[in-house]
Amino acid sequence: MQTHRAIIKGVGHYLPERVVPNSEFEKTLDTSDAWIRTRTGIERRHFAAEGQLTSDLAIRAARAALRDAVLSVDEIDAVIVATSTPDQTFPSTATKVQAALDMTHGFAFDLQAVCAGFVFALSNANAMIVSGQARRVMVIGAETFSRIMDWQDRSTCVLFGDGAGAVILEASEGTGGPNDQGILATDLHSDGRFNSLLYVDGGVSSTQTTGVLKMEGPEIFKHAVQKLAQTAETALAKAGLTDRDVDWIVPHQANLRIIKATAQKMHVPMERVVVTVQNHGNTSAASIPIALSVGAARGQIKPGDLLVAEAIGGGLTWGSVVLRW
Ligand code: UT7
Repeated sequence: MQTHRAIIKGVGHYLPERVVPNSEFEKTLDTSDAWIRTRTGIERRHFAAEGQLTSDLAIRAARAALRDAVLSVDEIDAVIVATSTPDQTFPSTATKVQAALDMTHGFAFDLQAVCAGFVFALSNANAMIVSGQARRVMVIGAETFSRIMDWQDRSTCVLFGDGAGAVILEASEGTGGPNDQGILATDLHSDGRFNSLLYVDGGVSSTQTTGVLKMEGPEIFKHAVQKLAQTAETALAKAGLTDRDVDWIVPHQANLRIIKATAQKMHVPMERVVVTVQNHGNTSAASIPIALSVGAARGQIKPGDLLVAEAIGGGLTWGSVVLRW
C-alpha cells in the first residue's frame, strides 16, 4: 500500500564554545570528577556565553541541517523548536529562528515536553507530513539548562549542559512496510501524577520568576530504566519490527547507566548505541538530535540503518521514534 513517509533529509548540531570539565565543580561543591564520571558517564558540558540565547544555538543547528540537506529556507514549510528554556515567555523561540533565517512563509511554533521534547516534536512533524499539511519540516531541539540550575545543588547542576540539534524531514512515498526509509512508528506517553519528580520551581502564572530545576534523581532513574525499553519495543512492534532489527539505539543522553540498562533490556550491544553524553551532559530536548548529528558525522549511522530514539523527561513525558535513515 503506497503511503506518505517523512524521511530525514539533513541533520546538524551546535554546542556553545565554553567547555566546562567536571573538575571545575570541585572548586565550589563537595563533588569529584570520579563521582560524576562513574555515576553518570559525563566528563564535560558546554555552557552558553553570557547573552547567548537558546534561539542563537537553535539557529546554528538549523543552518547546519540546511547545509547538510542542501536545501534553502524557501523550501521549508514549518519550524518546530522543542525547548523548555525559551528566550522569552513569548513569542516562541521558533519564530525567532524563523526570522533569523529570513523565512517569511510557513509557520513556526515551540513544543514543550522537557527531555522528551524532541521525540514529541518529531512525532508531530511526522503527523503533519503524513497528513499532507507540510512537505518539509525543520525539527529543532535547543536548550540552555545552565540558566535554570541551582549552582549549590550538586545532585543536579553537574548533570546538565547547553546545546542544539536539528533535523529536516521531507515527504516521500513509501510502501507502508518496515523496509521504507523515514519514520516508521512513534509512541508517546505522559503521566502528570509524577510532576513533582522533576520540575522547575518558578513560572509565569505561579511565581513570576524563572525558578531552578529540582529533581528526585533516583526516582527518575527507576522510571527511565522501566519505561524507555518498553516504549522502544512498543514503537518497534507498531512498525512490524523487533529488537533484533535495530542497527542503532539513539537514546536521550542523561546518564550512561540508564543508556546501558535500556540497551541491555533490549538485548542490543553497546557497540550499537550512539553515546555522546560524556561530551555534553544532559542537554534535555537537544540531546537526541545532537546524538543523531554526531552519530552520522562519526560514520556510525549509515543510509538504510534502522534507528530507535527514546527519551524520558519532566511530566513525566516519555516516548520513542523508529526510523530508517
Ligand atoms: O533528562 C531527564 C531525566 N533525568 C535523568 O535521567 C536523571 C536520572 N537520575 C540519575 O541520573 C541519577 O539518579 C543521578 C545521577 C541524579 C544520581 O545518581 P545516583 O546513583 O542515583 O545517586 P544518589 O542520588 O542515590 O546519591 C548517592 C550519593 C548520595 O549520598 P549519600 O546519601 O549516599 O551519602 C548523594 O548525596 O551520592 C551523593 N551525590 C553526590 N556526591 C558527589 C549526589 N550528587 C553528588 C555529586 N557529587 N555531584
